Amino acid sequence: MRINKYLAQAGLGSRRKVEELIVDGKVKVNGKVVTELSYQINEKKDVVLVNEKIVKPVSQFVYLKLNKPKGYICSSHDEKGRKTIYDLIPDAKSRLFSVGRLDYNTEGLILLTNDGSLAYKLSHPTYEVEKEYIVVIEGKIKESECAVLRAGVVEKGVRMPEAKVDVIEVLKDRTRLSVRIDEGQNRQVRRMFDCIGKTIILLKRVRIGEIKLGGLARGKYKELNADELLYLSRI
Ligand code: URA
Repeated sequence: MRINKYLAQAGLGSRRKVEELIVDGKVKVNGKVVTELSYQINEKKDVVLVNEKIVKPVSQFVYLKLNKPKGYICSSHDEKGRKTIYDLIPDAKSRLFSVGRLDYNTEGLILLTNDGSLAYKLSHPTYEVEKEYIVVIEGKIKESECAVLRAGVVEKGVRMPEAKVDVIEVLKDRTRLSVRIDEGQNRQVRRMFDCIGKTIILLKRVRIGEIKLGGLARGKYKELNADELLYLSRI
């Protein structure tokens, strides 16, 4: 097994985090530092240390979905002392990490797991897992503006990925839309609407692939059910 997969399965974090550990020389195999991302581990024989501690792949994986409220960050620590999603999971299922992130002011569906290889797949663009957001903006939106979002807005000369966009409801002073995107660039939905000069009042993720937020209350979490786990195993 490749070293990055091994470490991800040991619950050491996302693909990026694991690769950083390797490149930074924090990983030793049989006493020697390994910095090659493609290094092959013999799971039966090799002793793998990260920061001088033995790590082994976790056999009992945990998969949770959380309805993140606005006002929480997705990292485990924050220099500014803001609340984190881990404050919402008190029996701190050790080493659970979020699959991707939502901004401080964004709410909705977050998956948490200690299964690094799943986190790797779900965050990798080649797997193209669609995420759906409910977006509420101030005022109205023209069909031509929706068309710009669908084609991929151009931000500072660079075209952002295409999106599927539908207006769900037009109210007197606001409009509710559904936005579906495959990629998860940093603050992608907010940047898309910034580019067409619209102010977002609410941004909420309601689906990742076939996993839906459903009726999960704000701030609550629960384990994925058998159908959801089966879906993840087939990605
Ligand atoms: N797009 C955003 O702008 N923010 C998120 O948190 C997720 C997607």
